[in-house]
Amino acid sequence: MNYNQRVQVIMLWTVLGLFIISFQSHVTPCCAADLNIKIIPKPTKIEKGDTIFTLNEKTVIIVKPSSTEVKALGSYLSDFLAPAMGARLTVKSSWFPKSNSIVLRLNSSEKRLGDEGYMFKCTPRGVTITAAKPAGIFYGIQTLRQLLPVQIESRQKVYGVAWTVPCLSIEDQPRFQWRGMLLDPARHFITKDYLLKYIDLMALYKLNQLQLHLTDDQGWRIEIKKYPRLTESGSIRKESPMPGNRKQGDGKPYGPFFYTQDQIREIVAYAAKRFVTIVPEIEMPGHSLAASVAFPELSCTGGPFEIRTKWGIEPDIYCAGNDKVFEFVQDILTEVMDMFPSTFIHIGGDEAPKDRWNKCPKCQARIQKEGLKDTHELQSYFVRRIDKFLASKGRRLIGWDEILEGGLAPGAAVMSWRGIKGGIAAAGEGHDVVMSPTTHCYFDYAQAKGDNEPEAIGGFLPLEKVYDYEPIPDQLSADRKKHILGAQGNVWGEYMWTPQNIEYFSYPRACALAEVVWTPLELKNLSDFLDRFVAHEKRLDVIGVNYRKLDGQQK
Ligand code: ACM
Ligand code: ZN
Repeated sequence: MNYNQRVQVIMLWTVLGLFIISFQSHVTPCCAADLNIKIIPKPTKIEKGDTIFTLNEKTVIIVKPSSTEVKALGSYLSDFLAPAMGARLTVKSSWFPKSNSIVLRLNSSEKRLGDEGYMFKCTPRGVTITAAKPAGIFYGIQTLRQLLPVQIESRQKVYGVAWTVPCLSIEDQPRFQWRGMLLDPARHFITKDYLLKYIDLMALYKLNQLQLHLTDDQGWRIEIKKYPRLTESGSIRKESPMPGNRKQGDGKPYGPFFYTQDQIREIVAYAAKRFVTIVPEIEMPGHSLAASVAFPELSCTGGPFEIRTKWGIEPDIYCAGNDKVFEFVQDILTEVMDMFPSTFIHIGGDEAPKDRWNKCPKCQARIQKEGLKDTHELQSYFVRRIDKFLASKGRRLIGWDEILEGGLAPGAAVMSWRGIKGGIAAAGEGHDVVMSPTTHCYFDYAQAKGDNEPEAIGGFLPLEKVYDYEPIPDQLSADRKKHILGAQGNVWGEYMWTPQNIEYFSYPRACALAEVVWTPLELKNLSDFLDRFVAHEKRLDVIGVNYRKLDGQQK
């Protein structure tokens, strides 16, 4: 061996030695029982290993390719980890990932993973998340989040915790595309900042649709530039039902409370970064008193009206015989579509009493002119007209199951709330359906009996019943099952005075629903879910969530 050859051999051994040292510094043997694998919703497939990878401030996030969307996901991960770790991990592109890295890899040829699936692989050298679409990488990151010690959720630097990830392989994708929740700022307003927290929580559990019930008899909560009176007079009410005694008014003026268009845009953008679609709900033809307070000429009787101070349903609804009503709601929907890029626009459509329409000369004239049978067909006329308008703008109408009455426009979708009959009928006719029956999805119902529970609207929906829910009704033939887009938990706002109420009624039931809509049916197991949720109680404590504890003890 000449001098050069000897130098080459020494260099080779040095590089190899350094590699082995760096490799070994990340290999920590561990027993399988210690591995903290408590993922909700349960992934499709997990293969466990018996070692761990430990993140530290030198861990690098590698994005492949280095496109805007993958870099944004890298930054999201780095931003999330930074407070608790006390270090912002570098995000960079590299063709040859070294050890101690988290690789986010977008690979459109992994088609079997679908639009939201991902592969997650952790070895002692690091983590690789692969997906065909950015949403899949995002969900892989949520899985990583849940595999890290719960203190990673802290927004302050945490000392003395090793940021370990169990080594394993996961392949995962959702069972349903609509994994929804509904919040109701019309009855009790919800601040923008709190909505952002709620969206983050939804993302943690891979929920992806947040319906905002923005208008009702008790309030109008969204700025419409063309009609400022909507929020000037529609966002204030004289009083509300008294907590603990709903038949009595509390004597306290409520409002003005509404979202400005800038705030809505901020909420929508924040949610989009977390792969949550905000679905706006603008109620029509019923639940529309707040609009009629500002514009009484849009009702059948002409008013005058006051914002409703009791919960329940108002008999005064939009006049279906007045063309000005269609102009008005279309103007509103035009601004709404400008703020919300969602494919679906929810137009409510529930609980529209027909008393006024039965007596209104304009409504009766419309029935005559259009050759309609009755006021149910008049509601159908109303909905079809709005459906046509939304479709002309490239959007799709969705509404509560009453919109089926009198016939439904072909592209419209139905949210089945009065049980599952509406959903079965709609899917049977070829409409897409989101299941949200009161029996399993009304999260404003009490989750336990007894005096310890906060005041609720009525009803009883324990966690186990939510977990047991199967969104696809047996009655549907195989070719109609595909119309069930998923399910949604509704947290109606009458008794949600504060974010603490919202969280108590939402969690853990939203976790159970997340598993209903994500996990393959054959992998669902209640006792296993409850065991995993116990671990999540600690995570939710660190985040600061007022969930209902499994043992029923108040926090
Ligand atoms: C509803 O609960 N009225 C949809
Ligand atoms: Zn009328």
